[in-house]
Amino acid sequence: PPADPCCFVVFGASGDLTHRLLVPALYNLAATGLLPEAFSIVGVARAEMSTEAFCEGLRQALAKFATRNVEPDVVERLLACVTYVQGGPEDEASFDRLAETLRAIEETRGTSGNRLYYLATPPTAFAPIARALGRTGLAAEENGAWRRLIVEKPFGTDLASAQALNRELLAVFEEHQIFRIDHYLGKETVQNIMVMRFANGLFEPIWNRDHIDQVQITVAETLPVGRRGKFYDATGALRDMVPNHLFQLLSLVAMEPPSRFDARAVRSAKAAVLDEIKIDTPEEALRRSVRAQYLAGRAGRETVPDYRATPDVAPDSTTETYVALGLMIDNWRWAGVPFFLRTGKALCARRSEIAIKFKQAPLSMFRHMPVEHLAENFLVVGIAPEEGISLQFNAKVPGPSVAIDGVDMTFRYKDHFEAAPSTGYETLIYDCMIGDAILFQRADGVEAGWRAVQPFLDAWKEAGRDGLSTYTAGTDGPEEAHRLVGDHGRRWRPI
Ligand code: BG6
Repeated sequence: PPADPCCFVVFGASGDLTHRLLVPALYNLAATGLLPEAFSIVGVARAEMSTEAFCEGLRQALAKFATRNVEPDVVERLLACVTYVQGGPEDEASFDRLAETLRAIEETRGTSGNRLYYLATPPTAFAPIARALGRTGLAAEENGAWRRLIVEKPFGTDLASAQALNRELLAVFEEHQIFRIDHYLGKETVQNIMVMRFANGLFEPIWNRDHIDQVQITVAETLPVGRRGKFYDATGALRDMVPNHLFQLLSLVAMEPPSRFDARAVRSAKAAVLDEIKIDTPEEALRRSVRAQYLAGRAGRETVPDYRATPDVAPDSTTETYVALGLMIDNWRWAGVPFFLRTGKALCARRSEIAIKFKQAPLSMFRHMPVEHLAENFLVVGIAPEEGISLQFNAKVPGPSVAIDGVDMTFRYKDHFEAAPSTGYETLIYDCMIGDAILFQRADGVEAGWRAVQPFLDAWKEAGRDGLSTYTAGTDGPEEAHRLVGDHGRRWRPI
């Protein structure tokens, strides 16, 4: 059913995120009948611009970034409900103008006073915009109308800044009004982890230390840092990917079964498992982590220069473009099971997956078989490029002698389901409009993620360039990452 009547107010309306993802996502929602009849879009940005000029930008964005064939009448219907307001949080009068515009729209379009504020701005503007919304009375819910705030990543740059940002937002909005985005939760395969675990009887009984040997979570990218040098050099692979995206994957795989499929129960279970990742000393942080920078090479189809030769990257930068961690989850279910995480830029392939390895069979019967021929029992949740799930096991090779070979059973989304390509933001925007926060981060979850990575940030800062490794662009990462899992008697799956 279509979402609640509402007004979608986007800050950072002339930016990349709005053009590349939000507008195509809104178009997809419109095309599939999920936008309410009473709907309007208000774009807010600093540039002086007429509503017509703003709409022209959106039209061009759609032509470029739409994920499906655009139908002119759907585009025109969508653009007919757009208004542009020039302004920014430093300009108090612009928020008064925004308030007036919203009231006028609500009267004419019947959007019932419901408002979704989307912060598609650089992170430095998050708190100032929230404060300005508070000051002008735009944040408080009144007369049954909802006011919701979507905040993009990055949500802080460490534990202290994430806590400070939560405090700022919570001084103006209540927790139930705040929707912190992690776009990994918009991915079907990621949402499916819960269905796989809890809608099937066969996995959960063996989902523990008695049967699982290790878990590997990989998000490998071929793309180098390219034009994002300024952002990336201040951020690095750990901050960019781990407390948010990789921890989403980890917490969905490792959390205890929530008692209900609702935002409170699911988010509590996710935060609880992140709280159980414990690093006690700086030495332990260094022992459990590998960080590295890429050197010139060929990744994907590109010739990649040294990371340090990237525009806007310091020539003596110690920022990591690759990180691998060997984490332990300190609870009854997972004691002794290593969770290996790795992510990096300019690697040999694009591959995102969660691989759960089950313990080996006692094996006495086939002892005479060369062990290399046996497949390891991996259950692999593929997120990219192939979306699906596959289970690897051993089978007898047909013939008179007993030879064993590893085979797999594979489910591919594309073989079973038909879904138009999407931006990944449709579900998130729609869920916010209907008030379902399951796929959004709660304050405690964000902070638990930062708390778990803070020991690494601190230990690396202290160590400076000591312990920073390198890898050639287009390879599977630094040698040291192999040593990290090797020390636990394990091996990475090939990327
Ligand atoms: C973003 C990071 O949040 O996620 C990028 O800032 C990264 O550096 C991207 O490339 C990965 O997302 P996806 O959906 O392509 O795996």
